Amino acid sequence: MINDNEKLKPPPYKIKVVEPIKKTTREERKKWLEEAGYNFFNIAAENIYIDLLTDSGTSAMSDYQWAGLMLGDESYAQCKNFFNLQDVIRDITGYKYFIPTHQGRSAENLICYALNLDHTKVTISNQFFDTTRANIETSGAKAHDFVISEAYKPSLIHDFKGNLDISALENYIKNEGDVSLIVVTVTNNAGGGQPVSLANIIEVSRIAKMNNIPFFLDAARFAENAYFIKLREKEYHELSPKEIAFKMFSYADGCMVSAKKDGLVNIGGFIALNDDQLYRRIKERMTVIEGFPTYGGLAGRDLEAIARGLTEVLQEDYLEYRHQQLEYLGKGLEKGGIPFIKPVGGHSINLDAKSFLPHIPQSQFPAWALTVALYEHHGIRAAELGSVAFGRKKDDGSWIYPELEQVRLAIPRRVYSQEHLNYVIDSVLDLYKHRIEITGMKIIDDPGVLRHFTARFRPLEQE
Ligand code: F0G
Repeated sequence: MINDNEKLKPPPYKIKVVEPIKKTTREERKKWLEEAGYNFFNIAAENIYIDLLTDSGTSAMSDYQWAGLMLGDESYAQCKNFFNLQDVIRDITGYKYFIPTHQGRSAENLICYALNLDHTKVTISNQFFDTTRANIETSGAKAHDFVISEAYKPSLIHDFKGNLDISALENYIKNEGDVSLIVVTVTNNAGGGQPVSLANIIEVSRIAKMNNIPFFLDAARFAENAYFIKLREKEYHELSPKEIAFKMFSYADGCMVSAKKDGLVNIGGFIALNDDQLYRRIKERMTVIEGFPTYGGLAGRDLEAIARGLTEVLQEDYLEYRHQQLEYLGKGLEKGGIPFIKPVGGHSINLDAKSFLPHIPQSQFPAWALTVALYEHHGIRAAELGSVAFGRKKDDGSWIYPELEQVRLAIPRRVYSQEHLNYVIDSVLDLYKHRIEITGMKIIDDPGVLRHFTARFRPLEQE
């Protein structure tokens, strides 16, 4: 994908508006880290040089989207932009009904409500995203992840590491009984945006239909997934990303979508589906918690920006450039021997902190320590997906640690240039050279639930 002299092909857009970013000194960052209790959620965004915390809500909008904001129809009911967006979503997904929501997690909440999830119910996914899991578990239902085992092997190359394990699904249904919902997350965020094949979606669909189980896509990154299918599943090489996306949606009963990713907007989400009953229940509920069903917690102008973003995200030259950027970053890190989850995902590179910092045990939070070092030394913010975010305390007070200690470098869409990526590569390589100097962390204030947002830490002294 990347041309011979390892330069990226130019992006299919040019820059019209710029947002300055600020270089800071290591001394300043050390002070801010200390004040923030070594937690990035407490550090002022303006003091971050390159922000790779998330690709969610961080996209740069196009001039066409910004122009669309001026065409926002802010009527309370039946605004024009609702119908524009409905047309676009019908065209992409083929589903009959569309319901806007203020972001992805409220779409998830509405689906849980409409399906009457409670403590007697079980749901299955390749891998639930945190908020989806939290919505399901809050309703009382169980949420099981059945991603294929290859997903847990960081250095193993596999075209579709996001696939759901079909035999695990079949066995569960056969031996354990009823399942109330199947969700396939495309791409699988938990593994760094690993894609799901169309063959896998078709199989899941067959099993769901046979057993009468509602099957939804969590389609936050549907366009990136469609592009992987185009590249890696031979029979779909000739189809456009839009045609492939349409096929993906056609095998499910509906989708819940955070538009903050492949919608190329800063806020928004939606549900689209075919079932009349479910649609009715969602509409009833959403009027109570989100807003009237033609605006769903958003302004008319937001709906217009999503309609335009969804059209742009499926353009092949855009997806090609996006994919190239991630590949370029991966190649640069690979050359320096940096351990990360292979192959490169659709929206992020996830560093393997266990291999990066083998001298730090999981009880001392290696992935957190690596994010702190990245910021302290180079001003880069990343996200920890390791023992802080996913560690669980057992009743006897001991800890269960997650299998992987990951640091996610999520790449916002249309935001950073090749030079920024070079800076990231050089920074990670530099840290790797000095990795032995990085020390573990100790939590000094642990709030328990969702602790990565508010916990405070201190670095452990070097032995
Ligand atoms: N589903 C997936 C796969 C996601 O990645 C996210 C958000 C959501 C649902 C929830 O959407 O934020 O609009 O409510 N992921 C963000 C991230 C937060 O950083 O990966 P939301």
